[in-house]
Amino acid sequence: MATATSISISFPAARPSCHAHQRRQQTTTRAAATVTDQQQQGVVSPKRRLPLRKVPGDYGPPLLGALRDRAEFFYGPGGRDGFFTSRVRAHRSTVLRLNMPPGPFIARDPRVIALLDAASFPVLFDADLVDKTDLFTGTFMPSTDLTGGHRVLSFVDPSEPSHAPLKSLLFHLLAHRKQHVVPTFREVYGDLFGVMENELARAGKADFGQYNDAAAFGFLCKALLGRDPEEDAALGADGPKLVMKWVVFQLGPLLRLGLPRLLEDTLLHSFRLPPALVKKDYDRLAAFFRDAARPVIDEGERLGVARDEALHNIVFAMCFNSFGGMKILFPSIVKWLGRAGAKAHGRLATEVRNAVRAHGGEVTMRALAEMPLVKSAVYEALRIEPPVPMQYGRAKRDMVVESHDYGYEVRKGELLFGYQPMATKDPRVFNRAEEYVPDRFLGEDGERLLRHVVWSNGPETAAPTLRDKQCAGKDFVVLIARLLVAEIFLRYDSFDVQVGNSALGSSVTITSLKKATF
Ligand code: HEM
Repeated sequence: MATATSISISFPAARPSCHAHQRRQQTTTRAAATVTDQQQQGVVSPKRRLPLRKVPGDYGPPLLGALRDRAEFFYGPGGRDGFFTSRVRAHRSTVLRLNMPPGPFIARDPRVIALLDAASFPVLFDADLVDKTDLFTGTFMPSTDLTGGHRVLSFVDPSEPSHAPLKSLLFHLLAHRKQHVVPTFREVYGDLFGVMENELARAGKADFGQYNDAAAFGFLCKALLGRDPEEDAALGADGPKLVMKWVVFQLGPLLRLGLPRLLEDTLLHSFRLPPALVKKDYDRLAAFFRDAARPVIDEGERLGVARDEALHNIVFAMCFNSFGGMKILFPSIVKWLGRAGAKAHGRLATEVRNAVRAHGGEVTMRALAEMPLVKSAVYEALRIEPPVPMQYGRAKRDMVVESHDYGYEVRKGELLFGYQPMATKDPRVFNRAEEYVPDRFLGEDGERLLRHVVWSNGPETAAPTLRDKQCAGKDFVVLIARLLVAEIFLRYDSFDVQVGNSALGSSVTITSLKKATF
């Protein structure tokens, strides 16, 4: 699956993950000498026999290099994408060394080898080649005080004994009420569009994100746990707000909230926000799930997961993975579809309505299976704007990582980092890679491209297992994304949007909804 191969060519002594700059320089120099020697001898990568190349780029002086890269990543011209594309241009290489934020004083070591093309990226999915321990958020890990004192599954490597039982528990969470998913989605998102129509009539526009937050949280709790959070006296309608504050305490070091730069860089990117400040909010969320998710926690006990550990894993899966994912993905889908225009809307509406009519007017799994354009339009949104854009893995051994053109030597212990949008918008794999093409994945040729859609930390053609780190919610996410598209085109012939930025994903305002006429 991955294009990396472990190698037997002898390397200089493996680089320990030390932080002494001098030692680093010595090792890098020695590595450079080795590669030069190999190039002279015509050494090629073991798998595809590509010429070997030393990984270009440098980390700069300690501290200053990391601060320079952080400033460019957050505040440089061209933003985050510009940060990576300018390096690719400068080094004429899609595999290169750079520092990833946050750096000082949050992350111990910001140095990574960045993988910025579709060929090298998949090494991150290979559990034999990379270790994913504590790398879910990158070069730093949020305090476990934010998750009830537990290292939750997203931070656990498949080689750890707790990985399989925890992942089994989350598979169970997603599957045990599966007959409720479609009807609950239709009920909750039907109400959302009703409210948005009223708002549009009243104010001439309606913010999708605001309504989506409440709908996503309500849908998840009702569908997966059978409980309406707003009916819980202690939680009420506060769920989404509490979750977002708690997420900022975890992801703050990677976010731009739009505060004045000095304040933001100091407050958010240089020091950790104290978990004690969000403890009360988190305890309110945990109290709700302790009761609402009791049957799932019981199942955890059967699987050998202690009740408290099961609870905090369920809170994380429901609030961070699922709600956080829907908060980014749904506005993204509405944005790309909105921009796709009336002709694409007409094709989607025709497909959705024909399939639903053929199934007695109901949205069923079989009706959804007969909506290939909807399916393709969802994959295309996940390709062009992967909701979780950054993945990490630590090399388990010396290996050669292959891009399209070169093999790059990577040493055991080095941190590999993939910026997914550059893998899924790689022009060597996708035509018109920067364009949203709703029917891109139709037909045999389209389907062949699906292995390059990797939003779930694995190819779209693979399924998550207990032995890998592919997203446990992969099928669920694709299902609810299709349900969203189907709901929109059952109700409307077409719609218009205005788009802006927000800390997590896009901010989307609906400016018109044209009711279904056929
Ligand atoms: C749009 C929605 C979602 C996106 C974009 C997404 C994306 C991802 C990604 C990229 C990873 C791998 C992270 C890494 O290790 O580098 C991941 C892992 C994971 N996701 Fe999702 N996810 C989504 C929804 C969900 C949902 C609904 C669940 C529900 C249970 C979930 C549960 C998990 C879990 C448990 C892992 C860790 C898997 C493991 O340790 O083997 N995710 N997800």
